[in-house]
Amino acid sequence: MRSTLLAFALAAHASPSLEVGFCQHSCPQAEEIVRNAVRRALAREPGLGAGLIRMHFHDCFVRGCDASILINSTPGNKAEKDSVANNPSMRGFEVIDDAKAALEADCPRTVSCADVVAFAARDGAYLAGGVEYQVPSGRRDGRVSNADEVLDNNVPGPTDLVGELVESFGRKGLSADDMVTLSGAHTIGRSHCSSFTQRLYNFSGQLGQADPSIDRAYAEHLKQRCPWPSSDGQMDPTVVPLDPVTPANFENQYFKNVLDHKVVLTSDQTLLDSPRTAGIVRFHAAVDKAWQVKFAASMIRMGNIEVLTGDEGEIREKCFVVNSY
Ligand code: HEM
Ligand SMILES: *[C@@H]1O[C@H](CO)[C@@H](O)[C@H](O)[C@H]1NC(C)=O
Repeated sequence: MRSTLLAFALAAHASPSLEVGFCQHSCPQAEEIVRNAVRRALAREPGLGAGLIRMHFHDCFVRGCDASILINSTPGNKAEKDSVANNPSMRGFEVIDDAKAALEADCPRTVSCADVVAFAARDGAYLAGGVEYQVPSGRRDGRVSNADEVLDNNVPGPTDLVGELVESFGRKGLSADDMVTLSGAHTIGRSHCSSFTQRLYNFSGQLGQADPSIDRAYAEHLKQRCPWPSSDGQMDPTVVPLDPVTPANFENQYFKNVLDHKVVLTSDQTLLDSPRTAGIVRFHAAVDKAWQVKFAASMIRMGNIEVLTGDEGEIREKCFVVNSY
């Protein structure tokens, strides 16, 4: 019986090993518990939804979707969390801990932290006004997290050009279309100035030059918000919205911004540099519904990257530390 059900799930979702509703018997309330935790968090700080979507991305691109991003550093180990790609910009860890505490109270050692991150990312998109979709689950948690791995051919950087981005996603089994579609997540959330000040003040190593691919008035506006960094080595905490038009709405405005040259990251503007990716940008800018449906499908593919299943890994009891047994 169980194996026929499983076979059906595999055929229906074309996913190697995860299945929608994996814990519907062992912990029927699981997804609702996570959604409620995300709801509570957004009531307090609406921007956390964006943080949770980005967290799933950075988790899946390093050692697969195994919650390795959640593990705290220890005296002997600098973890992913403390890579410059995550610290201090990654937010929402406390939302995961809150959801996990509620899950452990209801059904101890049943739902992995990796599944919690995948559910929470979906909830972040949904509660910001995006599509509702079902998340295949059954991931297990990894026991290794190493800061050096994050930027080592795994998480792409904000100055990457379209060819590098296509390659980066390709290494994870995702297509150029997935890459463009998922970049649409930059329709909510924020960026620290440091992710793009070189574009405003030192384009191609020419001090005083701004990148001509940024809309002029928008570049002036950004310069007001983000002064050229002082050399005291302190991280500037200033942030700007990734989508200057509708910063909190989960819709296709991001793609219109790319076409209007009103995006802060080189990795966003560069999507116009290849005819193929530019065509996908124009399609998403024209048809919001199509983008939303594609976004859900690409998120599910991203959520399948190198997952641990069965008796691989473990179900962590606390998401920020591996089990001691
Ligand atoms: C294509 C390659 C990508 C690059 C180079 C990139 C880079 C960045 C950078 C530099 C930031 C700003 C971080 C900061 O300074 O605070 C950011 C924010 C964000 N990214 Fe991406 N990203 C990419 C793809 C993605 C994908 C695939 C997703 C999810 C599906 C995503 C979701 C987000 C979200 C939601 C934010 C806002 C986070 C917040 O407000 O806390 N990004 N990204
Ligand atoms: C300006 O850009 C060049 C080339 O990317 C870089 O080597 C240089 O350090 C930058 N200057 C400053 C002051 O950031």
